Amino acid sequence: MIEEIEKHLADLKKIKIIDTDGLEKFRIKYISKKGIVPHLFSQLKNVPDSKKKEVGLKINSIKQTVNEIITIHKEKLSDKSQDDSFEDLTKPANFLKLGSRHPISIVKNKIIDIFLKVGFDISEGPEIEDDWHNFTALNLAEHHPARDMQDTFYISKNPDWLLRTHTSSVQIRHMENNDPPIRTISPGRVYRNEDISARSHCFFHQVEGLYVDKAVSFVDLKQTLLHFTKELFGKSKIRLRPSYFPFTEPSAELDIYWGLETEADYRITKGTGWLEILGCGMVDPNVLKNCNIDSEKFSGFAFGLGIERIAMLLYQIEDIRTLYENDLRFLNQFKSSI
Ligand code: DAH
Repeated sequence: MIEEIEKHLADLKKIKIIDTDGLEKFRIKYISKKGIVPHLFSQLKNVPDSKKKEVGLKINSIKQTVNEIITIHKEKLSDKSQDDSFEDLTKPANFLKLGSRHPISIVKNKIIDIFLKVGFDISEGPEIEDDWHNFTALNLAEHHPARDMQDTFYISKNPDWLLRTHTSSVQIRHMENNDPPIRTISPGRVYRNEDISARSHCFFHQVEGLYVDKAVSFVDLKQTLLHFTKELFGKSKIRLRPSYFPFTEPSAELDIYWGLETEADYRITKGTGWLEILGCGMVDPNVLKNCNIDSEKFSGFAFGLGIERIAMLLYQIEDIRTLYENDLRFLNQFKSSI
């Protein structure tokens, strides 16, 4: 009988099952009421007492092996039947859950698109900057009081490494590496050591614009910005207010006329109808010189704006912190925008 059992065990090693019918036949052959395993157990009474234990264990091991084979093949065959279901072309497609773009990215892309269409390219620079690119080359020498306008996170002193306080540093890098004509916009994250509140945060995003060529004038600046505000906000009344930035001369602040139609308009424009949108000006000749560009031959304009401010305006967001909390209830509202 031992020989018979060994033969069954050897057979089990060679077993091949390819479909559910085969699996059912295998089950019937081995463990149904009239199958091999019950038959072997029924023979146990004829085995001498001294061998009963050994033979019993062997029959048990056949039963166990058969059960394992059944379990494994059941799993394999059910996976396969799922695969086969892909061949049913009439089945509805699997639902694909789509995310949404972040409002900062939506606004950034809109701004980029507007300027790409009028011949600007995109340039980027590092968020960890040196003193030269963030300050000195932009006409902010050491101890320049305007450095205090932007509270800086320093990483090290001597050499000075810092988190860039504005994307104007990319202007410098771009002019150092390219000859005019230059038309570039530089989007990116900037950092300032400021208290976090509904209106300010220790980091935010800016877009810098720069145009350097022969005979670029203030008229070009104004016309480019007018085109931009028309495209982005659909507003065509703007004004340029005199301002001060160390890297531009003259400098200006661009306001758009937002209107005073709703209560919200009164609130966001503080009752004036006007909204400050960005800083700009004609590139200071010293800045051109710092980048080895001949300021007698070339002139340029530059501007810089905060993306959060614009996103908050366009989507009526009251608190800047909601932009960084990654609350899906907030983010899902931007599903239809691209
Ligand atoms: N860098 C300025 C800031 O962060 C913004 C700015 C103003 C950029 C005037 C410019 C400019 O290029 O011409 O506040």
